[in-house]
Amino acid sequence: MKDIILTGDRPTGNLHLGHYVGSLQKRVELQNTLSYDKFYVMIADTQALTDNADRVDKVKNNIIQVAIDYISAGLDPRKVNIFIQSMVKELHEFTTYFMNLVTLARLQRNPTIKEEIKLRGFGSSLPMGFINYPISQASDILAFGTTLVPVGEDQLPMIEQAREIVNSFNFTYSPKEEVFVLPKPVVAQTKLMQRLPGIDGKVKMSKSAGNAIYLCDDEKTVREKVMSAYTDPNHIKVSDPGQVEGNIVFAYLDAFCRDEHFKNYLPDYQNLDELKAHYKRGGLGDVKVKTFLIKILEEFLTPIRQRREECLKHIDDIYQMLFENSEKASIDAAVRLEKMKDAIGINYKNLLN
Ligand code: TRP
Repeated sequence: MKDIILTGDRPTGNLHLGHYVGSLQKRVELQNTLSYDKFYVMIADTQALTDNADRVDKVKNNIIQVAIDYISAGLDPRKVNIFIQSMVKELHEFTTYFMNLVTLARLQRNPTIKEEIKLRGFGSSLPMGFINYPISQASDILAFGTTLVPVGEDQLPMIEQAREIVNSFNFTYSPKEEVFVLPKPVVAQTKLMQRLPGIDGKVKMSKSAGNAIYLCDDEKTVREKVMSAYTDPNHIKVSDPGQVEGNIVFAYLDAFCRDEHFKNYLPDYQNLDELKAHYKRGGLGDVKVKTFLIKILEEFLTPIRQRREECLKHIDDIYQMLFENSEKASIDAAVRLEKMKDAIGINYKNLLN
């Protein structure tokens, strides 16, 4: 049996380099293998509303932004089904029944939720919808019989929760045929790619920390951000020995630089190891390294920007694609919804003779 792949993002802002190396890149890779039955990429507007109930416009406007980011980054709407969560009503029905299989204490122990609650400072005004979103996310995954979920590492507890729901469902209802499949996560290869730091060097790149380089940033913005990026505070004069560990510019080079970039942009060095060695010895200035990084990022971002320009001319077509795909996803989810209701024993029409 071939894989069924599903993943998604909340439409609360544009996607950035952290999203790209942490998950988008892997999705594009998987897409191009073509070794799957179905590939869904969900724009999680319902989930975004769980902490944006009064900021509907922000969520609404970012749906098209995220869709454009996906296509610009290389997802092909002819190969993957990009759809809008709230337009697939079946998902909410799954959630209703799954909620009976998970305790509040279990949700409160979810490390990602814990972290997010702290970050948002909810206190006693924590919305029910927010604490519940791991269950809703399990519905997103389980409704389609998903086998693989390519995500950033912060999403691992969500997949664990979905797996627990499968086990709990099977234990509680002993379905005669399999209804839900145990999903597996797919994360980026290296720790660095899983947690690309922001330009401030303090925390992971994220829109909320304001330390991100976006896929839609123009050349000038990228240059300014890279030039202001955190390096080694003790590397003051060019001749000073510098530190590579914790140096954001080298972290980005680790993530994006390939040997051929040296041939094209910095032929004095063969590879990143040589550049690092020189930096550590002293005699290599930050501006030179940053200028090299900017060239690499520009090479990477230019085609993405060009595709974005194209997309901007076809906004209505993209919306149409999203609506049609949501209908298809809805039809797909309805099949498993019926199976679930059969297994639970609430398909009352079965009572008719
Ligand atoms: N929680 C994800 C995020 O914050 C978005 C998401 C919603 C998702 N449903 C999903 C990811 C299902 C993977 C699978 O970006």
